[in-house]
Parts: sequence; structure tokens; C-alpha cells
Amino acid sequence: MKIQRVAGALGAEVHDVDLSGELSDNLIGAIRSAFAEHQVIFFRDQSLTPAQQLAFGRRFGPLNIHPYVAGMDDHPEVMEIIKEPSDKINFGGGWHSDMSFLETPSIGSILYAVQVPEFGGDTLFASQAAAFEALSPGLQATLEGLNAVHSAEREYAPTGASAQKRESMKISDAEGMAGRFTHPMVKVHPETGRKALYVNPAFTMNIEGWSRRESRPLLDYLFEHSRKEAFTCRFRWRPGSIAMWDNRSVWHYALNDYHGQRRHMRRVTVDPVAA
Ligand code: SIN
Repeated sequence: MKIQRVAGALGAEVHDVDLSGELSDNLIGAIRSAFAEHQVIFFRDQSLTPAQQLAFGRRFGPLNIHPYVAGMDDHPEVMEIIKEPSDKINFGGGWHSDMSFLETPSIGSILYAVQVPEFGGDTLFASQAAAFEALSPGLQATLEGLNAVHSAEREYAPTGASAQKRESMKISDAEGMAGRFTHPMVKVHPETGRKALYVNPAFTMNIEGWSRRESRPLLDYLFEHSRKEAFTCRFRWRPGSIAMWDNRSVWHYALNDYHGQRRHMRRVTVDPVAA
């Protein structure tokens, strides 16, 4: 297995592996280490059925069934992320990490490209560990003492960004269903000990104990800070490419710059192993 970094802050391509077959514990251990070190890792030229993608994902933990976005009929843990030529909006078209609106958020996502546009449709990633490390010691210490409230409602409520009409994906609305859950604003990676900012432009509502109005200036500052170019990398997809990112320390952004073309991806989302 050869590993090649793609940018200064995060991201590495992993070469010379075929993820479709029986994978040894050693190989999974090496992938797990690369994932912990680089935060997002990329594989090229893979050929995975949904069942093979599920099997690969399950080597890292139990797989999540998205509460609002329907999965495949025969594999509910596999979410198809599709933008049809007639769709105007895409899924994931803003900075976020996946599933922070859950009581127990996901640890990672594994996205496989089935069909990609001729141009456009890249995904951007931003290291929230690098973003945290670039803050002043004073603000770091303040944030380490704070929690933030997350909810699906801004995204999945009837008026939310993802609830807008589209042809390609079945998204149910979260009205009355979405809970509000509190998470620390700084997460410590359980394997590396590295600290990362954990706020989410899509799902963070307010800082715990602060009103939304009081929270806004600090959250807005962090949202702007955390997407600085120096913390990012960019992935150009080809059919058969895979990105596997750490939702505890990475934001991502699916660019919507390919109108009139089709893009079809499949995602599995890994939950933490229950304690
Ligand atoms: C997502 O937010 O999971 C989608 C990312 C992408 O389609 O590139």
C-alpha cells in the first residue's frame, strides 16, 4: 500500500489496494492508521457493488441508516447521492460534517463514485484539526470548555435546505422528529489525541447556555475561520474513486458546478462502536 499526501493540511491517496475482496486485518489496520493520520483518504479505480461497499464499511464500525434520506431498497445503509441533469441543487452543497445532529454522531463516511460529470462536481475537504491549531491559545481554551447544540431541523425541516424539491433523492422532512443534541465544541481524536473544532454550519444551532443571537458572532467567526484555504484539499472524482473522511475532524463541501450533467455517488456512514 503506497500513500501519497495531496495537500499540506489533510488528505492522502492510497494506492495499490483492491477493496472489493476479502481484506486482511493487517490491511484494514493500515487503512485505519492512514485514515487517522490524514483525516481523509482517497482510493482510485475501485469497482464495488453496494454489498462490497457495505462489507468494507462494516470493517470500521456499524453502519448508520440515515433518518431522513432514504437508502437503497435492498441496502438501507447505502445512501445514493444523485444529482440529475434537471436538478438545480445538489446534496451536501455547503460546508458540513455528516450526522452531527444525532445523539451519537458518525465517525466517518465512505463515498464511492458511480458516475461523475465530465467537468465539475469535485468535493472540498477542510481539516478542523488544523483549524483548531491555528486559533489563539486563549480562544482554544475557551472553546474547550464549551458545548454546542446541533439539530437536523435547519437542513431537513420542511423549509430546510435539503427539503427543496428535487427529482433524484427521497428526503423526508424532519418536522417534529429532529431532536437537539449537545456535543463538545472541541473533539479529541480517540486514536491520535489530536484536537479538532467540532461545529457544523449545517447543524449547529447555538452554544449551550447561550441564546442563538449571542452564539451567532462566535459561530460565524468559527465557520469563516474553519474553511480557510490553508486547511483544505480538493478531490477530483473519477468513476470508481472513493473518499473516506473523518466526520469528527473534517468538513466537506460538494461543489455544484456541473448543471445539466448527472452525478451519482453511493455513501455509507460509519457509527462509533458501542462502548
Ligand atoms: C455528502 O455531503 O456526503 C456528499 C459529498 C459529495 O457528494 O461529494
